[in-house]
Amino acid sequence: MASVPFSFSLLLVSFLISWSMATASADQNSSSFIRTSCSRTLYPDLCYSSLSPYKRQVGDNPVMLARFAMNVTIGSLKPLSTYIDSVLQRSAADPSSGALKDCKELIGDAIDLVRKSEKEITGLEVMVGSQVKWRIGNAQTWLSAGMTNEGTCVNGFEETGSGGSGEDVEMEVRQKITRAKQLTSNALALVNSLLNSY
Ligand SMILES: *[C@@H]1O[C@H](CO)[C@@H](O)[C@H](O)[C@H]1NC(C)=O
Ligand SMILES: *[C@@H]1O[C@H](CO)[C@@H](O)[C@H](O)[C@H]1NC(C)=O
Repeated sequence: MASVPFSFSLLLVSFLISWSMATASADQNSSSFIRTSCSRTLYPDLCYSSLSPYKRQVGDNPVMLARFAMNVTIGSLKPLSTYIDSVLQRSAADPSSGALKDCKELIGDAIDLVRKSEKEITGLEVMVGSQVKWRIGNAQTWLSAGMTNEGTCVNGFEETGSGGSGEDVEMEVRQKITRAKQLTSNALALVNSLLNSY
């Protein structure tokens, strides 16, 4: 009687081993898929480090990779918007607050554009023909517009050059936007390469 649970547990162990080996190999596949895809972006290291946490969900699906790239971008823009809000509350009279207010709007619009793009390519895997090109084209347009917004925001600070205590804040905002812009650029590059996949 004791042999039944024993052989059962043996079975279970071998099942778990082969399952974890398959998982490890799928993870490896996905990692190398993400690395290869990211090598076609302008910021491959940032691309890989920001997207490899999602390798389980991405697998080797280029649409999922691009969708996650957009959500990661939104994930960097949202806290930036919150940060600008908090700075504006503290220093409404600061010379740079005009640029900050503009930035807040530009970033808000950029978030909408990236979100729209993520939705636009959702389900692209099962679409055919002109539908595919149309949707990729829309996402390209909107992501480019988002990058323009981010660039305008950074340039706004360069023109102000307020000096004084505002400069640390400006530097911080500029760094965060620059990173968000790099993430947007990567997302756009991943969308561009969808044209070759579908
Ligand atoms: C890994 O990729 C290879 C080659 O593309 C494929 O044959 C294999 O089934 C994949 N393994 C897993 C676990 O996805
Ligand atoms: C991205 O975020 C949106 C909104 O939260 C969500 O609906 C969507 O499923 C996310 N995409 C991926 C690939 O996780």
